[in-house]
Amino acid sequence: TGTVPRRKMAAPVKKVPIHLQSSQNRLIIKNGKIVNATGMQDGDIFVEDGIIKQIGTNLIVPGGTRMIDARGRYIIPGGIDPHVHFAFEFMGQTSADDFYQGTKAAIAGGTTMIIDFAIPKKKESLLDQYDKYRLMADDKVCCDYALHCGITWWSDKVKQEMEILCKERGVNSFKAFMAYKDDLMLHDDELYKMMETCRQLGAVAMVHAENGDIIQENAKKLLAKGVNGPEGHEKSRPEEVEAEATNRACVIAKQVNCPLYVVHVMSKEAGDVIAKYREQGWPVYGEALAAGLGTDGRPCCSSNYGLAAAHIMSPPLRSDPTTKERLMELLSADGLQTTGSDNCTFTSQQKAVGKNDFSKIPNGVNGVEDRMSVVWEKGVHTGKISPTRFVEITSTNAAKIFNLFPSKGAIAIGSDADIVIWNPNKTRTISAKTHHQACDYNIFEGMECHGVPEYVIVSGRVCVDEGELKVVQGHGRFNPTPLFPPTVYDPIASEEEKANYAALPDIVTETSDQVSQLHV
Ligand code: URP
Ligand code: ZN
Ligand code: ZN
Ligand code: ZN
Repeated sequence: TGTVPRRKMAAPVKKVPIHLQSSQNRLIIKNGKIVNATGMQDGDIFVEDGIIKQIGTNLIVPGGTRMIDARGRYIIPGGIDPHVHFAFEFMGQTSADDFYQGTKAAIAGGTTMIIDFAIPKKKESLLDQYDKYRLMADDKVCCDYALHCGITWWSDKVKQEMEILCKERGVNSFKAFMAYKDDLMLHDDELYKMMETCRQLGAVAMVHAENGDIIQENAKKLLAKGVNGPEGHEKSRPEEVEAEATNRACVIAKQVNCPLYVVHVMSKEAGDVIAKYREQGWPVYGEALAAGLGTDGRPCCSSNYGLAAAHIMSPPLRSDPTTKERLMELLSADGLQTTGSDNCTFTSQQKAVGKNDFSKIPNGVNGVEDRMSVVWEKGVHTGKISPTRFVEITSTNAAKIFNLFPSKGAIAIGSDADIVIWNPNKTRTISAKTHHQACDYNIFEGMECHGVPEYVIVSGRVCVDEGELKVVQGHGRFNPTPLFPPTVYDPIASEEEKANYAALPDIVTETSDQVSQLHV
């Protein structure tokens, strides 16, 4: 494993809580197979104070160190879910998983870091929304987290706030919406300016790629014809409506020389667009979702409204059931690079508000808990991807794209001790009866998955212990994400820029006046 970080560690210096400053803060994991994106090796891992301190065989460790035997198991970097929405005010509802329940569910499934989105409404301040999210999250998160910010309108003030978020608040990524017209959607001229600003700052531009104008017209027509049930959702936004916007986002990004990250790629056509731009050598990245890999949109046509509504998200789960295999093939061939969940859960009661109008069904599905198992089952268990590629698409690539590597995304000396001991021979069956999420359904209900996280270590603390969940509220920290991720910017930056960003200081947002004052 690599031990020399490319850059200074991104995370702030961790304070070790008093109660962990004993032998409890030391751990040795023996006899497992360590899997990194770069390869596999047999070896033992010694953890102290939340950091991986040694990797090797016959390690000499202090007396009283707890030993975990990982024989027959893989030892993988904790999953990073780059796309969740906890306690998100959206379509008239607040998503059901908050930062406590959401991160608890994440850990139960082998994910040790999540990235959420602070999304202001039009005319609202980005900084206010960021502060609101820090306040909501900081004391609740059971694992580390970071924040993207949503760009939902454009003005000089938005541009100025983007710069402050980047330089003083540890945000290096911004999501624009090409859908949700009249609510979150940006027009092309605004997208252009948003991406141009990302390029100037060294941030990562992200897009929700669907043509919001077309969707609105189609939805009006369908409703007028009396198609008002959940089956109208995908009809109003077919594959080509996603693929068109994906292509347009790539074109705009190219005009301003900005790297691009396309969130929630849900169709074959959109995936092919991204793969095409990548073949041309352009730094565009595509994210598949657990939902898109593990299930499809056929339940949206069910006469059972609850089942149908549970599967409503945007872009839609496709009624073409072969989409999931194609998305996994794209992940395997590096046409797509990451897997997220887009976890945005609403209870059946919340979903019921769209009973007479599909366009009012709160959009969002579960996935933060089951993403790792679903990707393993559909990817590794079927033989489509290797365990090293699994690590890459569930953790390492997200860490690299959002500039958290190698603190995150690697089992390496000096990395955070976010570690999962994964048993590929055990199985579990996904069910709302046993999941840890705040919603009363699970879109993967009944799916049997090989691959179970037996131990999940979060910043050195054993939070899943022989399968038993023992999370601590507030144990996680906000991780600032530095500008100019080398993975993203090396392909396009000038030599002068590269020299500058290699020397960028770490941002320690713990000292952010606003946030720390609000926390007293
Ligand atoms: O349906 C979805 N995806 N809900 C969450 C909001 C978004 O667009 O990511
Ligand atoms: Zn979206
Ligand atoms: Zn989302
Ligand atoms: Zn606090």
